[in-house]
Amino acid sequence: MLVKTEHSGGIAVLILDNPPVNALSRALRAVLKENLDAALADPAVSAIVIACAGRTFVAGADIAELDKPRIEPLTGTLAACLEQSAKPTIAAIHGTALGGGLELAMGCHWRIAAKEARLGLPEVKLGLIPGGGGTQRLPRLVGSKLALDMISGGEMIAAEAALAAGLVDELAAGDIREAALAFARRVLDEKRAPRRVCDLPVEGASAALFDEKRTDLKKRQRGFEAPLDAVAAVEAASLPFAQGLARERAIFETRRQSGQFRALRHVFFAEREAAKLPDLPADLPPSEIRTAAVIGAGTMGAGIAMCFANAGIPVTLIETAPDALQRGLDLIRRNYESSAKRQNLSPGDIGRRVALIKGSLALGDAATADLVIEAVFEELDLKRKLFGEIDRIAKPGAILATNTSYQDVDAIAAATRRPEDVLGLHFFSPAHVMRLVEVVRARKTAAPVIAASLGVARRLKKLPVVVNAAPGFVGNRMLAERSREADRLLQDGALPQDVDAAMVAFGFPMGPFAASDLAGLDVSWRARRAIGTRLPVADALAEAGRFGQKTGAGYFRYESGSRTPLPDSEADRLIAKVAGGKRRLFSAAEIVERLIYPLVNEGARLLEEGVAFRPGDIDVVQLYGYGFPAWRGGPMFYADEVGLPAIRDRLNRLARDTGEQALLPAPLLERRVKEGRGFFG
Ligand code: COA
Repeated sequence: MLVKTEHSGGIAVLILDNPPVNALSRALRAVLKENLDAALADPAVSAIVIACAGRTFVAGADIAELDKPRIEPLTGTLAACLEQSAKPTIAAIHGTALGGGLELAMGCHWRIAAKEARLGLPEVKLGLIPGGGGTQRLPRLVGSKLALDMISGGEMIAAEAALAAGLVDELAAGDIREAALAFARRVLDEKRAPRRVCDLPVEGASAALFDEKRTDLKKRQRGFEAPLDAVAAVEAASLPFAQGLARERAIFETRRQSGQFRALRHVFFAEREAAKLPDLPADLPPSEIRTAAVIGAGTMGAGIAMCFANAGIPVTLIETAPDALQRGLDLIRRNYESSAKRQNLSPGDIGRRVALIKGSLALGDAATADLVIEAVFEELDLKRKLFGEIDRIAKPGAILATNTSYQDVDAIAAATRRPEDVLGLHFFSPAHVMRLVEVVRARKTAAPVIAASLGVARRLKKLPVVVNAAPGFVGNRMLAERSREADRLLQDGALPQDVDAAMVAFGFPMGPFAASDLAGLDVSWRARRAIGTRLPVADALAEAGRFGQKTGAGYFRYESGSRTPLPDSEADRLIAKVAGGKRRLFSAAEIVERLIYPLVNEGARLLEEGVAFRPGDIDVVQLYGYGFPAWRGGPMFYADEVGLPAIRDRLNRLARDTGEQALLPAPLLERRVKEGRGFFG
């Protein structure tokens, strides 16, 4: 039963029950309307409470249905019904009241929230705006400024802040339904007139407020359309209520037809799917990680240790030399200090987190850890030797993970007598900031080890994506492909600044060459030399001592103390030498095709080889690890939007023109074209 009406002394409590998050599906809306109509018509009912069963109040529209035709009763209709009721209506909010859930609650005359509840209108994160009156009612309740921040940013606010802002009327410490019933009785006793949000004035609206927000969003949310549309909708709240609603409806419909909505909806589901493995038994006993050890206190090791401390898990950070350990611990303190302001951390919070990280110079201190993560230099022999030692030290049942970004995890696992306990946990740098973790399943990794690792990754608030062990896994293998093609563009006469500008215009936060300058050209140069491969332009720059930002010169030059890449005639001269004097202007579209299509092709190969399990997993890796613009959905989703035949044809032409066999369309891509399918259907 989706909605159940309970009666308590003349008050009808409508309890919505649609697990897991009480999403407002079409079916739920219809049953809710029936129950609401019945309560409104029942002379024995004098007030109505809307509450939810399970872990949360309504967490929004059913996202899976959002692209279907909209059928009454819509959320806006239900909200209007609650608002126009002659009987007092009260929302009893626990968990999260999001999107259509909060819109429903704002249709009520009053809102009671549990102390731990959170409220928000996150539609912009899906490329939408609220479509059930949210953009018109929220400004009337909390004023234009906060409404604008909440609707254009999509972030939730805590119940306490909602109370202070006037979004909720009372906080409940105990049982939320009891509190709402008590509130309803009070309203009836006092014969309070219904407080209809649509009748409230809008405060704080001004052209300057909206203009400032637009300017800010264009900078901070570059490329995202929905936040700007959200500003227009909130601006319309200054119109008479019905006109404002009509404007909201029109904008909402345009957004629902947009490519950005399709892309971001795909991302929502792909993110959640990436951590699920079809062949992972559902009934695995949960394995609790209570303590961790990280070996290697370099940038990665220090960052990983911070992730555990942030999640309240004690962690031992192990190094061989005292000065290296001290450097790691100092780095952690500096990182905390610099993130304190951004994350609103008090000195007490920082102190508690730092106290959870214990430095050690003895590998033996890893003996009690439930999870040991190795983060030493990227040298296979070194790692194998270390895993041999860890094997002797670690307690039985401990999970042994390597943070390698491209070494052979099977070979590392084979250095132990318990390869079933070994896997890769590839964090991205800076590890305490980046959410992506590639969970690398080696040939012998046991299913419970994968399941426990996924669990701990989620506790660290990371986004785990399971991949199979293969050189470079998913992310770095695709990066290698893009690096090769970016280098080739320069060999063919493009300039680094033109390539970067095209990729930034496509939506990446920075271009591939500015990114290389930031990472350091020496690192990848050494890695290439180790495996005997070459990138002609990148090698020439590195050989000339141009290592990027750290030397003030790479593909670009940098003025001292500045991170702004500036075109550099010396770099251009070195590039021209490799290019044999060729210089040609490439259109932005051509640059994008030459860098993105090979990425798609490599993605198809990764799927075929079983390194990646689903095309959506590849998208998640690219979005969260490599700056692919979220509103394009990731390379595989983007490929479907472009159309696979066009990509196949372009790759064929590129392979012919460059003589590069790797650019020939992957068999999976060819097959999909033949079948008239995309990667997603
Ligand atoms: N519609 C359909 N399904 C939804 C949903 C929605 N609005 N919100 C969550 N779900 C599903 C998830 O897909 C997931 O399904 P799965 O278990 O099959 O993977 C399940 O509910 C649990 O969600 P999850 O995000 O894994 O749980 P959580 O506890 O971490 O977070 C929320 C819960 C509600 C905070 C989070 O799911 C969320 O932000 N949802 C989206 C809310 C939203 O955008 N609403 C506006 C829609 S216009």
